[in-house]
Amino acid sequence: MGLKERLEQLRKEGLQQIANSSDPDKVNAVRVSMLGKKGSLTAVLRGMKDLAADQRPVVGKYANEVRNDLQAAIEKRSAELAKNILNAKLQAETLDVTLPGTAVAQGQPHVIQQIIDQLEDLFIGMGYQIAVGDEVEEEVYNFEKLNLPKDHPARDMQDTFYVTPSVLMRTQTSPMQARMMEKHDFTKGPLKMISPGKVYRRDTDDPTHSHQFNQVEGLVVGKHVTMADLKGTLQEVARNLFGDDLDIRLRPSYFPFTEPSVEVDITCFKCKGKGCAICKNTGWIEVLGAGMVHPNVLQMSGVDPEKYGGFAFGLGPDRFAMLKYGVEDIRDFYLNDVRFLTQFNEKG
Ligand code: PHE
Repeated sequence: MGLKERLEQLRKEGLQQIANSSDPDKVNAVRVSMLGKKGSLTAVLRGMKDLAADQRPVVGKYANEVRNDLQAAIEKRSAELAKNILNAKLQAETLDVTLPGTAVAQGQPHVIQQIIDQLEDLFIGMGYQIAVGDEVEEEVYNFEKLNLPKDHPARDMQDTFYVTPSVLMRTQTSPMQARMMEKHDFTKGPLKMISPGKVYRRDTDDPTHSHQFNQVEGLVVGKHVTMADLKGTLQEVARNLFGDDLDIRLRPSYFPFTEPSVEVDITCFKCKGKGCAICKNTGWIEVLGAGMVHPNVLQMSGVDPEKYGGFAFGLGPDRFAMLKYGVEDIRDFYLNDVRFLTQFNEKG
């Protein structure tokens, strides 16, 4: 076979092999086998030196054409295969954005926190500030400045956990009354605050009491603050939390830091006053303690009782939650059982 025929044969074979190559590695293998150092076309080109001088340019030109053709075919096929691979990949990795998503479980505030939030909203709307105090409190603020001197018998009702002889886990949020009054400049206007938070008491084995529970303290001190203001405010609280058709009533009571002191009842929201199991057939439910701030307490916080006066109240959101949802054991709120807690959602 003459060189020219051999070249023609190589071109045909080469183009065929390139066209048949199904991946870039195979295309490259064809390139090496034909155009590489030991390739079949390279061998032919090397044999050209044996040709007659007048034959060389003719065959040389033809050989170049064959090499260029093969090279072009190799490039084209490689690009084609690369494109196919990319397309296949794009196809395989397509995202279907119309597929339904996986639902993410959404949490909610604890039922007691929901009640505190609701109270905060209500009081902010009435111009109160929210003041959060420390759960570890000085005995002076927890008792003494609230008119409970050492050896006062009422201290027994609030036995608690002592950190040192003069520092304790607060038994009530009332210490915030003294702390806020001390800081307030009464020449600039009245002090109106609520203070929500946890309090601690030595526990007895009773399902309605826990060694740790929540309170929301309320305090308004200024000029001409009367018991009618207290009653109106608490009426607002009761209606906001339990329903518009409820009344409240005040009964005389005793707290060392208020005088007079009252116990506040609301119409039973279940039977609307007719009498049922929840209100023990009285038609009323006791919900909080309150009173007019005792002059001694004002004085000890640096407020002149001749000029200023006010009211204070302390309510238990835990108790509100128990009443509102008919929960009989306060400890259920603190067991972190999600099945129990997810039942209560004020926001729906
Ligand atoms: N601190 C009282 C308690 O824990 C409640 C209270 C607060 C009463 C403010 C009157 C005024 O029992």
